[in-house]
Formats: sequence, structure tokens, C-alpha cells
Amino acid sequence: MPQLEAITGSLLSEARFQTMCAQYCISLADVEKAHVNIRDFIHLTPVLTSSILNQVTGRNLFFKCELFQKTGSFKIRGALNAVRGLISATSEEKPKAVVTHSSGNHGQALSYAARLEGIPAYIVVPQTAPNCKKLAIQAYGASIVYSGNSDESRENVAKRIVEETEGTMVHPNQEPAVIAGQGTIAMEVLNQLPLVDALVVPVGGGGMAAGIAITVKALRPNVKVYAAEPLNADDCYQSKLRGELTPNPQPPDTIADGVKSSIGLNTWPIIRDLVDDVFTVTEDEIKYATQLVWERMKLLIEPTAGVGVAAVLSQHFQTVSAEVKNICIVLSGGNVDLTSLAWMRQAEKPAP
Ligand SMILES: Cc1ncc(COP(=O)(O)O)c(C=O)c1O
Repeated sequence: MPQLEAITGSLLSEARFQTMCAQYCISLADVEKAHVNIRDFIHLTPVLTSSILNQVTGRNLFFKCELFQKTGSFKIRGALNAVRGLISATSEEKPKAVVTHSSGNHGQALSYAARLEGIPAYIVVPQTAPNCKKLAIQAYGASIVYSGNSDESRENVAKRIVEETEGTMVHPNQEPAVIAGQGTIAMEVLNQLPLVDALVVPVGGGGMAAGIAITVKALRPNVKVYAAEPLNADDCYQSKLRGELTPNPQPPDTIADGVKSSIGLNTWPIIRDLVDDVFTVTEDEIKYATQLVWERMKLLIEPTAGVGVAAVLSQHFQTVSAEVKNICIVLSGGNVDLTSLAWMRQAEKPAP
């Protein structure tokens, strides 16, 4: 597989970087504002290490544990920043409702954020979303509305709900306030790991990758940002290869359900210019990496978070210079559908 050349392959001059940033939907200032907006309501998640995984990869790996984040994934960062932004923007009047379409984690996060601020939330979810995610959305107080599996079906249903409720759409990965919120992960990592050489980020719609890339390249341009995605949902890789936004042609079939979405109009320019490379991994590689983290680190990550680990374990990653030694992988979530495990499914509830 050919190595992708990013603009960041050669270091950008400050002036060129500023000109490019003017074209993006967010800037570092938005991420800094988001951090102030949300930091009292979220966890500062820990960074853990594993000597076994260091041995296997020959690098110093660091794991940013967003599986321990409120609602079980990093998604609360963007959702909360967006909801709090809506409230301060309208001051007197709260929005009538917030609406989104999400395969689960953003739905849970928006549901939680909306309840925190006393706003009704409507979450459009594909029928096939894992049960644990649907239950959690409801547990946080939002109403679920079902759609088909395609991006188009989800978007159409969400539009209808926005009209019916006179609500505000909070897009899971293209809303600028969401992208800025996700960028706060990088602010924390750069503080927690001053010697970090690279961050590895699973990419779906690209909100997290874009927010992190904006932050890292503004604060520490030498630090690499790598995206990781399933081979079966490789729109980000294809887009970078062709130099144009190339969405997945059909709904992808992957165990990493959080990254089935394609990158979009707001995240693409940032990813195009500021993400250094994209690594694709097979379904077997994702399952192997996820199981390795469960077994060796005792961290219950969801397979979507295993995508970043799989990328660093992959053969392609060996082409990354040995100088890129200290690598932080974002373990983006831990909302595992335990009933998808065969032995769990078979387990009967013990009699009282
Ligand atoms: C656990 C997890 N990791 C990564 C992602 C990808 O995030 P983004 O869509 O911002 O690229 C998601 C998206 O839902 C997710 O739930």
C-alpha cells in the first residue's frame, strides 16, 4: 500500500499555516474556548502504558483512556461544547430540542449533555446499532428515533425531526463546536506527554481527527497526527490518496461500528492538510488488537478504539520512521456490546 504524502510531510511556515487555517471551520482559539467551556464537566482521562505492547511494537506507546470518559467515550467533549454553546448564544431562551443521528456514542453524549442543561434530545439511530448503546441513550433521557443504515437515511430522518420539534441539529462530526470539543483531547495529551512524537486517532466522520490535528499542528507542528480506519470503511485513506473527498460508496461492513461514517465537508480540508498519514486495518487486525488490549491491559475498549491499536501493530506502520518513538493512541471509547460475545450471549441470569 503506498505511503500517503501529507502537506505536513515538510514543516509548514508559520505564515502558510495561518493562511491555511483561515479556510478551516475551526481554529486553535475555538478548541481553547471549548476546553474552558467543558473542562469542569468531564474527566481528565489518564494516559496508561503497557510494556508488553512496547515490546511488540518496538516503540513507547501511551494510551489516552477516553473509554473512562463520561458516557464511555470522547464524544461528550464535542456534544457538551455544542450544547453549552447553544445556551450561551441564546442566553434567555434555551433551544426547544437538540437532535442528532449517531451510531451510538455521540447519541449517548448528546443525550447526557442535553439532560445536564435541561433540554429534550432526539437521537436518530440505525436499527443495527448495538443494543447497549441504544439502552444508554434512553437511560440518559433522550428519545430514540430509528432510521435505515445509510448516511442519507439517517440525515433525512434527522432533518424531519428537527422540523417537527423546532430543534437544533448537532451533527456528530461536521458541527464546528463538536470538532473543537474533540480537539481538547490533544490539549490534554500535549500537557500529559510533553515528549510525544505522534498521536494515532481512529477516524469515522473525522471530528476527532480534525480537532486533534488543528490543535497539534498549531501548538506542536513537529508532532505527527495519524488517522486509523478499517479497510472496509477506508474513505479517509481514499480521499487522501485521490486528493478529493471520496465517501464510502455504501454502508461499510465493519466490527468498528463507531467509524462507519465518512469524513465530510468540514473535516476533509483539515484532514487533507494536517493529518500526516492514514493507516487501514483489516477486521482480523481490529479484533486481534482489541483482544490484546483486553487481555494485556485489562481495558474494556470497544472495537472502534482497537482500530488505532491495530494500526500501530500493522506492517504498514513499520514504515514510520524509528524517530517517531513516543506514540499516543487515543482509546476513544469503551461502550462494548457484551452480548455480542458468544459466551456472554449464552450466559443465563442466575436464579435469585
Ligand atoms: C469510539 C469511537 N471512536 C472513534 C470515533 C470516530 O470519531 P469521528 O466520527 O469524529 O471521526 C467514534 C465515532 O462515533 C467513536 O464512537
